[in-house]
Amino acid sequence: MLVRQRRDHQHLETLLRRVAAGTGTDRQDALTALCRLVFPHAFAEEAVLWPLLRRVLSDGDEMTLRVEQEHQRINELFTELETFDPNDVEHHRLFEQIAVLLREDVRDEEDVLLPRLQEAVSPELLRRAGWAWWTVRVTAPTRAHPVVARRPPGNALAALPLSPIDRFRDRLDRAKQEPAVLSASTTAAVCDSRGGVKALPAALGQRG
Ligand SMILES: [Fe+2]
Ligand SMILES: [Fe+2]
Repeated sequence: MLVRQRRDHQHLETLLRRVAAGTGTDRQDALTALCRLVFPHAFAEEAVLWPLLRRVLSDGDEMTLRVEQEHQRINELFTELETFDPNDVEHHRLFEQIAVLLREDVRDEEDVLLPRLQEAVSPELLRRAGWAWWTVRVTAPTRAHPVVARRPPGNALAALPLSPIDRFRDRLDRAKQEPAVLSASTTAAVCDSRGGVKALPAALGQRG
């Protein structure tokens, strides 16, 4: 689990640099990749790792509250970021705030939370927690959801409808970028930038 966490964190750093250095479509593409890494990664921490930390450490509640607040603020800032054009100066200002928070979150986890978890549980439990975290990580919502609870059971219940909706929207976004995937008639914009599916493309909206 620690290896997978570090790998994600390193990938995160690469994407943060790509967004910061990019313009126009490159910047937007790197930002999309960043969201698809950050949100499922954090959601799975909130669903699996932080509840375990609270169970095994007497100060676990206080420690995890800090990272949950960081995650919440990151969700709020990403939602605000989506309202601006990637070339807008406000987009750059908000992104800089997000990058600072994400780097703080990584340091809190790698320097404090994960080492404390490693000390507190057996290697076997750590390995099982790692698998559980990864299983949630590959199916969790991929977009910012600031109104969703950061703790179970609220976040787990919210994930049931949000994960398939987010992943469906990701597929549509990819299809829009790769016209061969869908015919020209199905590539019209279908989602607004903040969450609502406006209309299904004809081919996907037809029933079986
Ligand atoms: Fe992490
Ligand atoms: Fe995190």
